[in-house]
Amino acid sequence: MKIQVLMLLFFTFVLTSNSFSRNNNIPTLITSKNNLIEAQYQKSIALLFNNLSPKDGLKGAVIAAPSKSHPDYYYNWVRDAALTVDSMISLYLATPTNKSSLRSAIKRFFLDFINFNIHIQKTSQGFAGLGEPKFLVDGSPFTGPWGRPQNDGPALRSIVVMQILSLAAQEKWPEYKGLLEKLYVPSLGTTSLIKSDLEYVAHQWMHSNFDLWEEVGGHHFYTLMSQRKSLYLGAHMANFMKDIGAVKYYQQEMKKINARLESFWNPNLNFILATFYANQAPFYTTPSRLRSKSHLDTAVILGVLHSEVDHLSYSVNDPRVFATYLTLKKSFAPIYSVNKEASLNTSFGRYPEDTYDGYQTNSRGNPWVLTTAAAAEFLYRLSLDYLKTQKIVINFANVEYFSQVLKVQLKAGQVLKFNQAEYNAILNHLVSEGDTYMLRILYHGHPDGSLSEQFNRDNGYMQGAPNLTWSHASFITAKIKRDQLLSYFRTR
Ligand code: NOJ
Ligand code: NOJ
Repeated sequence: MKIQVLMLLFFTFVLTSNSFSRNNNIPTLITSKNNLIEAQYQKSIALLFNNLSPKDGLKGAVIAAPSKSHPDYYYNWVRDAALTVDSMISLYLATPTNKSSLRSAIKRFFLDFINFNIHIQKTSQGFAGLGEPKFLVDGSPFTGPWGRPQNDGPALRSIVVMQILSLAAQEKWPEYKGLLEKLYVPSLGTTSLIKSDLEYVAHQWMHSNFDLWEEVGGHHFYTLMSQRKSLYLGAHMANFMKDIGAVKYYQQEMKKINARLESFWNPNLNFILATFYANQAPFYTTPSRLRSKSHLDTAVILGVLHSEVDHLSYSVNDPRVFATYLTLKKSFAPIYSVNKEASLNTSFGRYPEDTYDGYQTNSRGNPWVLTTAAAAEFLYRLSLDYLKTQKIVINFANVEYFSQVLKVQLKAGQVLKFNQAEYNAILNHLVSEGDTYMLRILYHGHPDGSLSEQFNRDNGYMQGAPNLTWSHASFITAKIKRDQLLSYFRTR
């Protein structure tokens, strides 16, 4: 009992909820899109479940997509799997307790996911180490040439496993005690899933590694954000486990990462850089090709969405993130001809110079589902933050954009107060902006709800791996944030 109470205390911050107070004078939100978005959401849930625990593999594996050739995505990527589980945690929390069959299916999968990851963490130690990015569905590491290590994997995995543990404590699962004992063993030299990932993150974050797109070696905003969150939660976990030396060490490394992250903001370019390559001071080791000449990459927005930590820098409400979002939007708008369709929002790709078309490199990159869903999620979450803080602060990054929305010239420093007409107008605008990203995805998706990795920049047809798990996960996560936001409004 005592353990559970403590665990609850330490972990209430792990699963932050967006709570805001309702007001009597609730603004009306005009949206006719709810049914369409809801329908895709239901289909995405079913299609995501199809990609879990494949019949010819171990339980708990997540295939990146069902296709075994053109392209072969029939592997468990540590990153994709962790992000899928992240979305399933949101789904679990958003599912009413009386819908117990969905909740118990999710819970069962969490337990399988944990066991599968305990297994692959061991098999990877015999091969390339914890930064090994992809595994066969039988749990053995992929041993062909690949961009490795990818150090976001252990960080993202430790985050979701700590969150599952927190759920188990809060809901008093009978499995809780057993999980706690096997997932975190304080003494070094022994292996346990969370502790080993945390040790890897704390010792490796300063080393060059491959980015989430698996293309270039260097130091990446996305990866460092995930490492910062991992050690932030890890320090609390260590404290709870009375692993006192580790508490200090994780906090100390977390602070260093936090400081390092500051160097990614470039005020002259007005966006957060995605990567410092090997030949660029101050922190380089591995030479690699210079992929993105602009250094502009949606990976930055993904880093914020996946690894935001309350009260730390680079939150969704950080003006530098908004500046990056706008720069990305402006850069993608003219390069994909599908973006000429003005009733739908700009589709986002990975980065403007991308040459991977879903099958081969040295081609032309396309817009992606998961990056376009990220643009929607970003606006929904920004709006949720405005509700939580009950104000909108006008700053250097958003002043022009919001002035256009309101058709009044605003000034940086101005504060729009909760429930003022301007405040509500901006919120309303952000929801419909977000929705037109979601509708963009529906427009290019198949009628049966299947979503590939990309859609063709010219003809708009789905392209690349069909039913990419991460595409569905990203739609689900964005939709759940949208629901939280809509619960504030009176809709019609
Ligand atoms: C497959 C990777 O997963 C993808 O991100 C990359 O762009 C291509 N290979 C080309 O390297
Ligand atoms: C290519 C993407 O670039 C990478 O991030 C992902 O892990 C793999 N595909 C598998 O979906």
